[in-house]
Amino acid sequence: MLITILVFLVLLALTLGAGWLTWRAVRAKRLWVKIAGGLGAGLGTLVLAAVTFFGGKGLAAFYFPGAPAAPSLVVAGTPEQVARGEYLVTIACRGCHSAVDAQGMPTGELPLSGGFNLSVAEGFGFIGDMTAENLTPGGKLAGYSDGDIFRVLRHGVNQDGHVLALMASLPYNQLSDADTQAIIAYLRSLPPVATTGQTGDNLNYIGAAMFGAGMFGPARPPSPETVTAPPAGITAEYGRYVATFGECRGCHGPDMTGTAATSVSPAIPNPRPLVDTLTADQFVAMMRSGVRPDGVAFAEGMPWQNAAAMTDDDLAALYTYIKAPLP
Ligand code: HEC
Ligand code: HEC
Repeated sequence: MLITILVFLVLLALTLGAGWLTWRAVRAKRLWVKIAGGLGAGLGTLVLAAVTFFGGKGLAAFYFPGAPAAPSLVVAGTPEQVARGEYLVTIACRGCHSAVDAQGMPTGELPLSGGFNLSVAEGFGFIGDMTAENLTPGGKLAGYSDGDIFRVLRHGVNQDGHVLALMASLPYNQLSDADTQAIIAYLRSLPPVATTGQTGDNLNYIGAAMFGAGMFGPARPPSPETVTAPPAGITAEYGRYVATFGECRGCHGPDMTGTAATSVSPAIPNPRPLVDTLTADQFVAMMRSGVRPDGVAFAEGMPWQNAAAMTDDDLAALYTYIKAPLP
């Protein structure tokens, strides 16, 4: 990130320099210098100013997101919390934070030793690296308090209060306080695994400028301090919560109506028309096998393995929610 700040300072200096040249050209005595120099230098100033402005805006948003301090919190780590945390992490976190294979792709298997470089794998490595962290006590989290980890999930910032580019885009700010604590309890219960590779964010100036220009989506409004889950049950309301920790809403949109393509992700279909035609049993069979009732398997971009790990009740709630009328 230090280099990114240097790039910003150099760009700022260049913008000022180009601005000065424009000023000189406009005040020149000879007409051709006035016009050609003024236009050329003026255009250069504008382009440099825009790149500097958005980069600076992105850097400011990264470094000063205004997240509240980490709560002082000690998670008890009861067996119930650890079990609930394991369930949630298996569904929500393992796909990215699992051990990686020789190609650096996540295996979906334990240990949660990280190393998956998401931006490179998804084809936007030109913005720098975004590498999933080692979540076992053998990694960075050994130096985090329970409150620090709580703040990662609720506010998407690291221990220093800087934005976590990817984590801040995931809907974990909607996880209940109890579920967030359960996840912490489970992560603390894992056997430590040491890793050496580079993890975390290493975004370059292009990434900062794209972030500043809002190209990764609109900034997230501040997250609430306290979140309570609706009562567990086979209801649309709880199904919506399942679709939150199950990541469904993160991809298919807040109301599961599909999302348009952005500069960093493809369009994602609306699942409602298909699910509307299915019985509850057909829906469960589809989510557990990854194959639609007509025999067509989900494409690779649809992580049905997460849903396959859900309890019968949670899948039933999910079905009820997707079938329910739009809010
Ligand atoms: C889509 C992939 C993805 C998913 C899903 C995901 N993570 Fe992450 N996680 C990342 C990446 C990438 C980073 C590196 C920082 C960044 O870019 O946000 C990270 C970083 C972290 C960190 C380190 C934060 C720090 O301060 O450096 C923690 C803790 C974490 N994730 C926990 C979780 C938990 C718990 C879940 C599930 C509830 C989860 N993650 C789900 C990709 C993911
Ligand atoms: C990482 C993004 C992502 C997540 C998370 C995700 N999906 Fe999908 N989903 C997709 C994509 C991409 C497709 C299209 C797959 C294809 O074309 O075969 C899809 C397809 C579907 C379909 C089939 C739609 C149709 O008309 O054929 C259903 C149903 C569905 N998803 C439900 C879910 C549910 C329920 C969850 C949560 C457990 C979920 N998805 C999580 C990306 C995602």
